[in-house]
Formats: sequence, C-alpha cells, structure tokens
Amino acid sequence: MLTIALSKGRILDDTLPLFERFGVFPMENPSKSRRLIIESNKPDIRFLIIRASDVATYVQFGAADAGVVGKDLLLEHGGDGMYETLDLNIARCRMVVAEPETASATSQAASVARLRIATKYPNITQKHFAAKGIQTEIIKLYGSMELAPLVGLADSIVDLVDTGNTMSANGLKEVETIADISSRFVVNRASMKLKRQALSIVIDRMRESLKGSEH
Ligand code: ATP
Ligand code: PRP
Repeated sequence: MLTIALSKGRILDDTLPLFERFGVFPMENPSKSRRLIIESNKPDIRFLIIRASDVATYVQFGAADAGVVGKDLLLEHGGDGMYETLDLNIARCRMVVAEPETASATSQAASVARLRIATKYPNITQKHFAAKGIQTEIIKLYGSMELAPLVGLADSIVDLVDTGNTMSANGLKEVETIADISSRFVVNRASMKLKRQALSIVIDRMRESLKGSEH
C-alpha cells in the first residue's frame, strides 16, 4: 500500500488531474469529504488530505510514503528524511521580500539596528538575511502578511507573490526575490528503499503526466 499526502486548499485542484491522467483518482471528493484518509480506485494507493504546512512532516516521519508540497513549505521545513523527486510545475509563484512603497530597504537596513520582518517562513527569512549580514527580528504570522507593515507590526515581509495584486492593493513593493516556487512530489527516504518498485511506477507515470500537461 502506498500512502500519498496531498495538500488540501489551493494545490489540491491542480494535483488531482496529475494522478487522474494515469488512471488514479480518489473515491470521494477530497474538497467536500470530511474524511482525512481517502481510498483511491486502486487498491494499493490511498490519499491523506492534510494542511499544506503539515505534508512535509507526514512524509519526513514516514506516516506518508510520498506527498505533494509547495517548495516554500519544503524549504521552510528543511526537507529532512525525504527526496524531492519531481517539480510538478503547479501553484507557481515567487517568494519575495516586500516593504511599503514609500520605504527604502537599504536605508532601513542601515538605519535600524534590526529589521523587523513578518513572515510565515521564519527559517527561510532568518537564513536569507543572515547570509547578507543583516540582523533581523522575525515575527511569525500564519497569513495575511501584507497587513503587518501597514499597521507598524513590521518593516518588511517575506511572502509569496503570484499576480502581485495583493501587494499592490496594500501599497507594498517587492524588494527582492528569494526563490521561485512550485509544488514538488516528495518521497520518504525509507519508503524509497522499501517500496521502490511501487514508488518508481508512480513517479514515472507522474513524470509522463507532466509531459502531457506541457502541451
Ligand atoms: P496552511 O493551510 O497549512 O496554512 P496555506 O494556507 O499556505 O497552508 P495554501 O494557501 O493552500 O495553503 O497554499 C498552498 C501552497 O500553494 C503554498 O505552499 C504555495 O506553494 C502555493 N501558493 C500559495 N499562494 C500562492 C499564490 N498566490 N499563487 C500560486 N501559488 C501559491
Ligand atoms: C497568498 C500569498 C499572498 C497572495 C499572493 O495568500 O500569501 O498573500 O497569495 O497572490 P497574488 O500575488 O496573486 O495576489 P493566500 O491567498 O494563500 O492567503 P493567506 O495570506 O491566507 O495565505
């Protein structure tokens, strides 16, 4: 049996067609069902439907053999105990540093002892600014990061941008890009050894699905 963790929310609608293209689909609609374990039409594959930010943890500890997770959450988690096998090219966006349109990052960095940064990604933020020798005070938030600089909670934010609509609607501008983001298919390291054959088939078929979706 292969247990595959899927991120509910934004990624789910783009993930299911990748499985469907090689004939695997959930027996119940995961967006509607309250079940957290959903069988697939194949007796040897089942899905776990969990929060995007928990997928890497389930895969790391082998509670799921594989999973679909945003690169943002993978970088933040660190990726211990798993292989990143495929870039699924879905939920594409960028992780950026942003600040109010009226501010200047460089002058801020020079004028304040510690740059206050609000983010859902404290590990990535800490690493990014430490590499530049900039001292930061990181404020962990769980959403709507764009609000923080508007009400004086932070000088800047580290968040995701796709269309740029949220940033511009809140008077923020991008200062720099930290990483390009898309969702990845990750596999638990021990499962890769113990269930190599079954996982290789899924990875190969998914790779073929991706080629199909390029056209
Ligand atoms: P959780 O529910 O655990 O708090 P979340 O709210 O970040 O996680 P989603 O909003 O469903 O979950 O986002 C899932 C993934 O989609 C993110 O990890 C990221 O990779 C990607 N993503 C987030 N925002 C965007 C966006 N605006 N455009 C494209 N992809 C995005
Ligand atoms: C994500 C992200 C930005 C927004 C960017 O938020 O955190 O706020 O999308 O997209 P855009 O550039 O196309 O406007 P989401 O909608 O997931 O809400 P959240 O803040 O609750 O995570």
